[in-house]
Amino acid sequence: MTSTFQDKVLQEDALSTEDYQFLCSIVYKQSRINLGDKKKSFLSSRLLGRRNSLHIDSWKSYCQFLKSTAVETEIDILIDLIATNHTSFFRENQQLKRVEEEIIPTLVDIDRNRLKELKLWSAACSSGEEPYSLAITVSEFFRKNQNLKTNWSVYASDISQKALKIAEKAIYNETKLNLPDPELLERYFSRGLKSYTGKCRIKKSIKDKVRLKRINLFQPIYPLPHKYHIILCRNTLIYFDRKSQELLVSKLYNQLDPGGYLVVGYSDSLALIKHQFKSIGGGFFQKAEAES
Ligand SMILES: C[S@@+](CC[C@H](N)C(=O)[O-])C[C@H]1O[C@@H](n2cnc3c(N)ncnc32)[C@H](O)[C@@H]1O
Repeated sequence: MTSTFQDKVLQEDALSTEDYQFLCSIVYKQSRINLGDKKKSFLSSRLLGRRNSLHIDSWKSYCQFLKSTAVETEIDILIDLIATNHTSFFRENQQLKRVEEEIIPTLVDIDRNRLKELKLWSAACSSGEEPYSLAITVSEFFRKNQNLKTNWSVYASDISQKALKIAEKAIYNETKLNLPDPELLERYFSRGLKSYTGKCRIKKSIKDKVRLKRINLFQPIYPLPHKYHIILCRNTLIYFDRKSQELLVSKLYNQLDPGGYLVVGYSDSLALIKHQFKSIGGGFFQKAEAES
């Protein structure tokens, strides 16, 4: 069978195993995202637009470019392009319900009203749907328990600048809000008008509770102001190999207050790694209480 000119161009432009491995190693070194050895076409399709916009005509030259220039920003762009930012409002909502109905009441010690400030961290927040859903959940708890005087805040971070920009705007399609209770729409979102018809903006009362920051979960020291009572790190562990999962889980352990909780997604698992948490089921893991 004779190959067409187009086939020949495609073959010549195919990502070689060597270049693929080089790109995977950069991605891994920077983010610990483990692409494995079967994502060649995924990687080339995600990066082709970027390569073309730089007027670089082959993968070899793109890899050379990454090797030769002061490429911190190019590597950040690369991570942005390959990171899977899939998320949604009230994703795995059973977990948020449990936070509202069981975890927060335990933490704030409802009978004695002792906790002065409840601190939460959405540690791979993507485009904001998770931390805003969490903030709405916490706000609902305190709306229903107005006798409590606890202050609260949500920290939200991700490695992806592109995702954080969307989170910062806090404007989402109304059809994607997926609210467990329709009353939440009026309470926490403003509907857009004219060119924003069909869009909703998170109201200031919630937006101001959520502080966004770019953090790589594997950076040596987290630039965080304090330890947390609840950390959500959902649907993210799955992208890392076992060694990295172990490292990350121990870093998150250290970032929790004694007695605090780590929440992972339903598709994440800590079963195959060593860790110090006590599993309490449903993706919830508790750090040991401080010894008195
Ligand atoms: C699939 S999303 C999960 C979002 C949200 N937690 C949820 O469950 O809907 C995974 C997120 O992890 C982020 N991520 C991947 N590697 C990271 C790293 N090394 N540091 C921080 N965030 C990372 C990605 O940018 C992406 O936004």
